Amino acid sequence: MTFQTIEVRPLAGALGAEVGNIDLSAPLSNQMRDEIHQAFLDNLVIVFRDQKLTPEKQVEIAGLFGKPAIYPFLQGLDGAPEVHELLKTAEDEVNFGGNWHSDTAYRECPDMGTLLYAHEVPDVGGDTLFTNMYLAYDALSDGMKEMLKGLTAIYSSEKGYDGKRAEKMKSLDGLKDAVQAEIETFESEHPVVRTHPETGQKALYVSKSHTLRFKDMTVEESTPLIDYLSTFAVLPEFTCRVDWQPQTLVIWDNRCTKHLAVDDYAGQRRRMHRVTVEGVQPL
Ligand code: OGA
Ligand code: MN
Repeated sequence: MTFQTIEVRPLAGALGAEVGNIDLSAPLSNQMRDEIHQAFLDNLVIVFRDQKLTPEKQVEIAGLFGKPAIYPFLQGLDGAPEVHELLKTAEDEVNFGGNWHSDTAYRECPDMGTLLYAHEVPDVGGDTLFTNMYLAYDALSDGMKEMLKGLTAIYSSEKGYDGKRAEKMKSLDGLKDAVQAEIETFESEHPVVRTHPETGQKALYVSKSHTLRFKDMTVEESTPLIDYLSTFAVLPEFTCRVDWQPQTLVIWDNRCTKHLAVDDYAGQRRRMHRVTVEGVQPL
């Protein structure tokens, strides 16, 4: 697709693009909106530099993609409940989102996308990695594709937390004040290969972070294949890496990507604003 209003520069062979020649705080024409949406579907992860966004504006931009969602585990900002501050302080030893995952995959209708906006970033480090789950699916053998066809799995918000998600989140200095008093456990059943509702392409939807087990199988039986698929899905040739500057906005598609926040900036602060967009049930 050629773009008339925006500039789109790919970041890597697999996915990701920087979108230039646009000020998201200014009114957007219908053509600009359509082109942003197309750039999002084509590139899966889109990066906007030097954007001046208030929390309200970030929610408004999220509205271009769908209905802004409420994240169940953290309290939003006063006056902008859909905006969550992700703060890692210089004292924090662990970051948020440090394992490969697709946001809220454990919900019945997981978030379709996420908008993350940088306020404070470390001098070096604190990048985010993304992987293209269409490519990961396509690269599997015909035999594996056949085996995964029709297979469903249980996705859980407590996988890896051992019932202690609340405790772990409250131990993070930068997040503790925002953690909800009651942390619910979410568990949902989804196909392990989903069809993107807008592009019609198939994407692998398995992750070590949230896929607990295949339906009608034990955790023990399921784990080797979940681990294999999760490792395979993040081969370097399926990924891209985004480095942040203050006022960078990144929007990613949770239906066909996974991401990981690189935890390599101990002793430094990183402060981001996050808004997610409601999705549909994966099919
Ligand atoms: C998220 C997340 C990654 C990052 O906001 O869902 O995983 O780099 N963040 O902060
Ligand atoms: Mn995430």
